[in-house]
Amino acid sequence: MPANIVVGSQWGDEGKGKIIDILASRAEVVVRSQGGNNAGHTVVNNGEVYKLHLIPSGILYPDTLCLIGAGVVLDPKDFISELDSLETRGISTKNLKIDPRAQIVMPWHIQLDGLSEKFRGNSDIGTTKRGIGPAYMDKYERCGIRMYDLCHPDVLAEKIKATGNLKNKIITAVYGGEAYDLDAVTAEYIEYGKRLASYMDDVSVLTYEADKAGKTIMFEGAQATLLDIDFGTYPYVTSSHPLSAGVCVGTGVGPRMITNIIGVAKAYTTRVGKGPFPTELDDEIGDKIRNVGGEFGTTTGRPRRTGWFDAVIVRHSVRVNGLDGLAINKLDTLCGLGTLKICVGYKMPDGSITKNFPPTLEELSGCEPIYEEAEGFTEDITGCRTFEELPASCQKYIKRLEELCECKIAMIGVGPDRSQIIER
Ligand code: IMP
Repeated sequence: MPANIVVGSQWGDEGKGKIIDILASRAEVVVRSQGGNNAGHTVVNNGEVYKLHLIPSGILYPDTLCLIGAGVVLDPKDFISELDSLETRGISTKNLKIDPRAQIVMPWHIQLDGLSEKFRGNSDIGTTKRGIGPAYMDKYERCGIRMYDLCHPDVLAEKIKATGNLKNKIITAVYGGEAYDLDAVTAEYIEYGKRLASYMDDVSVLTYEADKAGKTIMFEGAQATLLDIDFGTYPYVTSSHPLSAGVCVGTGVGPRMITNIIGVAKAYTTRVGKGPFPTELDDEIGDKIRNVGGEFGTTTGRPRRTGWFDAVIVRHSVRVNGLDGLAINKLDTLCGLGTLKICVGYKMPDGSITKNFPPTLEELSGCEPIYEEAEGFTEDITGCRTFEELPASCQKYIKRLEELCECKIAMIGVGPDRSQIIER
């Protein structure tokens, strides 16, 4: 106790890394429960920039136990290079544990991700091409390779033979690609297993025991609410459950353990990849937000699409995650933009007005955002550390978001560094 969950409340890249990092500094255990190296957390600490994809951000604290749960899909090659890059910067990874049940991303998953995206043509999803969808497909098809298998060469060889033969058939016969040499893949992955064996442990048990011992636990979400496979903008979503409820199944703990759920959003909206985006700004203001906010993907470097704050989205997030509080990041990015706009509802194609996020893409694609204007600001707010220090227009903006989203705004980000935060 306490056990906090941090989730993304928009389409990802809300600056969860920073909020997670602040809370990780107070946590004794940090747990990651879904997704894979499609995620990217940038943490700035004392001017040092760390880009983490799979390893929980608690790793920057030497005494924090960092856990990767069963719901994660782990690319061992990428994971090892992340381990190496931390170790070479003097960050120890001895307190890191991976659940034996976690699924392993195989090379064919990555290739099939790219091939199926190409096959979809203009209807592609815009995935990160990290093999995430195909790895989750195998998990649910019940032919996935797991962390335990990776660390047991005989089991691994057998499973690679069984699955690899089928994947080779699909790659060659359906897509006209090149088959994998399964012996070479096995040899490569046995080496990864040797390197990772000492990290394997039962994360469900470790988390449960830590909670019983009264330790402070933080569950760090990857991706975000609108990328959830069920409650996001399907099919333009990822293949896991980034919602707060996903934490429980992805770690192997009961929902009663959770004491606080925090959603992270930006003071505006961004999205990478394809799919409808009602408040998207295809103009100079959108470019300005992108450039000032540094809105380029951590994982892929892609420019992010930008738009006004959408309270319909964040209200949806408050509901489906059961949020206790919101952290609003990057308020400083809105400086000098003139009058701001907030989307307060959608006008549906039949003329009706809704404040609820539409369940289907077909409904969402046809809706128009209804805006309310808010006074902008020109003051530099990056040095503000209390709510009262913010210009009156900023305070009003935050209070209005709070009303519209029906959730308390507990933290406000005013710059990239860990210290540039206002806690209320
Ligand atoms: P996938 O997770 O690589 O399959 O990609 C599916 C969709 O989720 C694409 O639109 C990606 O851009 C998006 N996505 C996946 N991970 C992240 C993330 O960490 N931040 C933002 N978008 C993401």
